[in-house]
Amino acid sequence: MTSQWLWMYAKVGRCNLRVLIKRSLSTATRTETGNELILLDRKYSIDKWTNITENIISKVGRNLHVTPHHPLSHIRQRIVNYFYMQFHNRIGSPIFSVYDNISPIVSVDQNFDSLLVPKDHPSRQRSECYYINHDTLLRSHCTAHQKDFISMGLNNFLVIGDVYRRDEIDNRHYPIFHQVDAVRLCTADELFQNVNNSHDLKLFEHRGVETNEKQACHSLEATKMMEHELKNALTGLAETLFGSELKCRWVEQYFPFTHPSWELEVYHQDEWLEVLGCGIMRQQILQNSGAGERIGWAFGLGLERLAMHLYDIPNIRLFWSNDSGFLNQFKVEDINATIKYKPISIYPQCKNDISFWLPEDRSYSSNDFYDLVREIGGDRVEQVIFKDEFVHPESKRVSHCYSIIYRHMERTLSKREVNNVHKLIGKTAQEQLNVTVRA
Ligand code: PHE
Repeated sequence: MTSQWLWMYAKVGRCNLRVLIKRSLSTATRTETGNELILLDRKYSIDKWTNITENIISKVGRNLHVTPHHPLSHIRQRIVNYFYMQFHNRIGSPIFSVYDNISPIVSVDQNFDSLLVPKDHPSRQRSECYYINHDTLLRSHCTAHQKDFISMGLNNFLVIGDVYRRDEIDNRHYPIFHQVDAVRLCTADELFQNVNNSHDLKLFEHRGVETNEKQACHSLEATKMMEHELKNALTGLAETLFGSELKCRWVEQYFPFTHPSWELEVYHQDEWLEVLGCGIMRQQILQNSGAGERIGWAFGLGLERLAMHLYDIPNIRLFWSNDSGFLNQFKVEDINATIKYKPISIYPQCKNDISFWLPEDRSYSSNDFYDLVREIGGDRVEQVIFKDEFVHPESKRVSHCYSIIYRHMERTLSKREVNNVHKLIGKTAQEQLNVTVRA
């Protein structure tokens, strides 16, 4: 892969900052005018809404989930194998088709509108997603492809890929992670095939009302059959991956695109970890996709969470490591082999605080600061902790204090390096976010 040094304009809020970057030419380049961005070989115009950062751009196209021997790839393959085995037709052929190579660049319509996400839903905000421009973003979930695949006539499919969310910084959160999303659609004949005297069982109910248990248009029996199959498939998957001693529980949830909806949580290191969301698909989505005569279930699960639990990986940044000390531990012939990650070594942490007055003339979101820290600190930053907010009693100015914990996964950071990065973070925050760093 070739690389090149070039200037690029990083846009944070209303400010444009000129930064010198080194990047591989295969992922992204900006064209001469500066108003366009080429990402995965396609040109996109950028606008006031653009908030994708260079750090993120450099990772689009890495495709960890299909990198040979990568832990995320092992777990992807194990999940696919489970679905192939569990759902097959009369002659034993798998019925789920698998798509793990779909571009993560989607329209606002795909990511939100097609899934009935309300226009004012918080998940659409600029502070939550990476927008390429007003109409285009890096998908925030693989559910974004649901409508397209159903419209193409598919009834059972898995979509696997990278998803992007602006988020906190800690051991378990990273702005890119990987998901497996699934859809299964059934006709009445398929759903009730093993039920005796099933001729009076229906998928739909006219003049029904929505309750906690079902959508207005669905019959209770169809919903319950689907719920049973869905939950069985998913607990079966969890047990196949983790063994039957695994402790897990179902929690009711809300998603705009399913009802009823649930989350599956697994018990990990004294905590309940949410690993997937699922539910009975909103019938409106099936109707809009030309499959109105069927009923469907769907789920989306996070690969990193499962892999951290399965392989004892303590930090989500490790998945991005190129260190052979990490990668070699996953070089196994049999993807079902038990692997427990052994830390290569623990490098010391270094903690530095920063406090600043928030701008008075424009909006500020902590996620803006987190992205800036990632841009400058890269993978040297392990965690950013929001410590407190202070409102000046007279001036009413607001100040935030954060602790930044520096630790590299692969080497010891010198005090000098940390101090330089920390200073640069403060300086850049002043320039780009209009904050005033306090002494
Ligand atoms: N898209 C949801 C998420 O990312 C998960 C989900 C998928 C929930 C499909 C329900 C159905 O959290």
